[in-house]
Amino acid sequence: MWHYFRIQKTPMYVLAAGSLGGLALLLIHMFNASPGQEPPLVAVVPGGGLTLDGLPTKWVQRRLQEAARVYFEQQKAGRKVQVVLLSGGTTHKPMPRDPHSGFQVYEAEGGARWLIREHKVPPEDVFEENWSLDTIANAFMLRTTHTDPAGWTKLLVINNAFHMPRTKEIFIKVFGLPPLPNGQYSLDFLEVPDEGVEPDALESRRAREAKSLASFRQRSASISSMQQMHAFLFTEHMAYSSKRLLKDREPVDPKVAESY
Ligand SMILES: *[C@@H]1O[C@H](CO)[C@@H](O)[C@H](O)[C@H]1NC(C)=O
Repeated sequence: MWHYFRIQKTPMYVLAAGSLGGLALLLIHMFNASPGQEPPLVAVVPGGGLTLDGLPTKWVQRRLQEAARVYFEQQKAGRKVQVVLLSGGTTHKPMPRDPHSGFQVYEAEGGARWLIREHKVPPEDVFEENWSLDTIANAFMLRTTHTDPAGWTKLLVINNAFHMPRTKEIFIKVFGLPPLPNGQYSLDFLEVPDEGVEPDALESRRAREAKSLASFRQRSASISSMQQMHAFLFTEHMAYSSKRLLKDREPVDPKVAESY
């Protein structure tokens, strides 16, 4: 049904863009939305941390294992699947470096490399969003860099149990904000076990998750559009607002850093 809905929306979208970029978008869009063609299933892996050497942590490896399983299973069933890895890093500790090259490793890159090399997912179906530093921007940047422009509307978000309640609320909020250029998003969530998190780190992480969720609810209650979400992130949120530069950063809290 909504294939037709999306096609009717296409000309508006293109008029608004009014450029060569817009034309390219139209082509991608028409391709994705052609009648009879299923939209791709997009498996999404939020940021969850890297080791000091730039490898995914044990609990993120568990998410990636699940993403690979979904990828091959759906592909076998004749379904187009893509995987998107999210996040640049975290505000809780500095970025790791690749011991070989000395370059910083972005979280999305570490996850993508693991998926491609360990699980043999073809790189043409793997995408990175390597800018965000927390779950709210995971969702916002996934929408603004990939899913809105690409017309990907069917998402399956894969995360560990400890991080899932907040992930769920944030993604539902962000992916419901107007304008929705491709119609409604369909969101599914797939939970994997909290493998490899030390029990006391898990306990303190769960407590912080509950606090962050409460503060997200409070701060997002008055946000009802992408425009307002953009304003919130870049003028109020202390990971992204340039106001953060007025003060020095706090040193890393080793206890907190254990689960990021
Ligand atoms: C960030 O992601 C883009 C692709 O989305 C990639 O071209 C770029 O190299 C990435 N940056 C790093 C530092 O991984």
